[in-house]
Amino acid sequence: MVEVPQHLLNDGASLPAIGFGTYPMTGGAAVDAVVSALDAGYRLVDTAVNYENEADVGEAIRRSGVPRDEIVVTSKLPGRHHAYADAIASTKESLQRLGLDHLDLHLIHWPNPDRDLYAQAWQALVELQDQGLVRSIGVSNFTAEHLDRIIAETGVTPAVNQIELHPAFPQEQMRRANAERGIRTEAWSPLGKREAPFAEPAVARAAERHGVTPAQVILRWHLQLGTVPIPKSAHADRQRQNLDVFGFELDDDEVAAITALGRPDGRLFSGDPRTHEEL
Ligand SMILES: NC(=O)c1ccc[n+]([C@@H]2O[C@H](COP(=O)([O-])OP(=O)(O)OC[C@H]3O[C@@H](n4cnc5c(N)ncnc54)[C@H](OP(=O)(O)O)[C@@H]3O)[C@@H](O)[C@H]2O)c1
Repeated sequence: MVEVPQHLLNDGASLPAIGFGTYPMTGGAAVDAVVSALDAGYRLVDTAVNYENEADVGEAIRRSGVPRDEIVVTSKLPGRHHAYADAIASTKESLQRLGLDHLDLHLIHWPNPDRDLYAQAWQALVELQDQGLVRSIGVSNFTAEHLDRIIAETGVTPAVNQIELHPAFPQEQMRRANAERGIRTEAWSPLGKREAPFAEPAVARAAERHGVTPAQVILRWHLQLGTVPIPKSAHADRQRQNLDVFGFELDDDEVAAITALGRPDGRLFSGDPRTHEEL
């Protein structure tokens, strides 16, 4: 089984260098996938209220036999629960569905700036952390402006900002903004949002040179950037493959060539790819 290195977060907690994404799996398929991921050695599991699979993740954790305190369970607060009292209640409901007494990491799923309640949601997460119901608190899809506002209003800096990040969208500015504030960047859709760029020469050439798959090259690129990828796969063989990324190293030119793919003059640049719906 693969031993995953850990990052130290700004609140003193540890975060595995790679995790397991669970969207859009639900029901028995989600339980089976999380059990096999834990069996392969993943110790960071990413769920959310909106994924409607928290109960499945909880069942998988119990079924896996992996000690609870070895697993970093992440969930996310949806935009419709940002008002302070709703955020407290929503988090307690997440714990109930998961069958756990605490979350290891809880994120505000999106800032939803049109509603302008994310600062209240952050106050609620700070309170939940004080109560011990959540160990680490963080955000997702926050810009530098959103980060600065919640830090200014509470004095508490998120431990993590989970953002879309892959070769077509290397997020150099946001990675820098997170790092400047001591925030660890997690990468969602780490392989690629719509289609993973497995055939891109910068990726395919590195895969051939190191005798690994293109997916492993992309995940290794994340590790060397210091970002925490959370790849999802419903298949046990791919789950194991995605975790087997600690036995080779890309050189600086290979890392730079992959990062360049999503720059404005890069082969994968597609304008502003931030077109997702706010949840
Ligand atoms: N915070 C947010 O707003 C947000 C938004 C989106 C996602 N997320 C989180 O991020 C996680 C990952 O994102 P994602 O699922 O969109 O993208 P992803 O992990 O980059 O890619 C998943 C896709 O790649 C395939 N795949 C996985 N490993 C592979 C391999 N080794 N070779 C070939 N194909 C492979 C999977 O298919 P198979 O399952 O068939 O293997 C699946 O279709 C989600 O599950 C969720 O937990 C968060």
